[in-house]
Amino acid sequence: MFMQAVAGGAAAGTLMEAHIMATRQVGPIEALAFDAYGTLFDVFSVTALCDELFPGRGTALAQAWRAKQLQYSLLRSLMGRHADFWRLTEDGLVWAAKSLQLDLTAARKTRLMDAYLGLTPFPDVVPGLKALKDRGIRLAILSNGEPKMLHAAAANAGLSSLLDAVISVEEAGIFKPSAQVYALAAKHLGPGRRIGFVSSNSWDIAGAGSAGLTTFWIQRTAAEPPEELGFPAAYVVRSLTDISSLIQ
Ligand code: LAC
Repeated sequence: MFMQAVAGGAAAGTLMEAHIMATRQVGPIEALAFDAYGTLFDVFSVTALCDELFPGRGTALAQAWRAKQLQYSLLRSLMGRHADFWRLTEDGLVWAAKSLQLDLTAARKTRLMDAYLGLTPFPDVVPGLKALKDRGIRLAILSNGEPKMLHAAAANAGLSSLLDAVISVEEAGIFKPSAQVYALAAKHLGPGRRIGFVSSNSWDIAGAGSAGLTTFWIQRTAAEPPEELGFPAAYVVRSLTDISSLIQ
């Protein structure tokens, strides 16, 4: 029943080689919504700048920054105290620098925050989105990000022309994994359309699956286990370029 190779027109052996696995068969997909940070944009592409500003501490700072940013999104949602993701990104940076006893001057903070607007896309992103767009699939970002930061990151990564919509949680006033956020996908991409959701963040996959979307987990780290939350990904892939062949 589980870990069944998806036929999708190609030989099962080929698909297994590409590390594509499905937990159940899924019908045609007409639109796909993508998580942004960690899925399209490499949040750890800021590590080089972190290391330039704080030699030898770049990796520690980048990791603490991302972890705290996400933790604040969950905490604020539970507290009922929403603030936008740009603010949380800045607050997470300030906390991370303090926790590592780094001198985050105003100038350094500005440079690091600006870097968040120009995060490097993963190498599979442009070819993967192009292949899906060529097949007529509607494509959108569905992210915790605040609209201006999402549009800037998409433009700087050369993704704007590939996307039909950039959907921000700001419209819902709460962060993922609230079901209210995933409901925005149908609102923007077409109610009644068969919509898939793509993320490399396993907790985001669980949230989207719980909200009823067909989920594609890009397992960017082979050793990462799926979440124990009860909503496994419909598909597990290693690259965004694997997705087009799965869609009938
Ligand atoms: C996002 C974060 C969760 O883009 O990565 O929504």
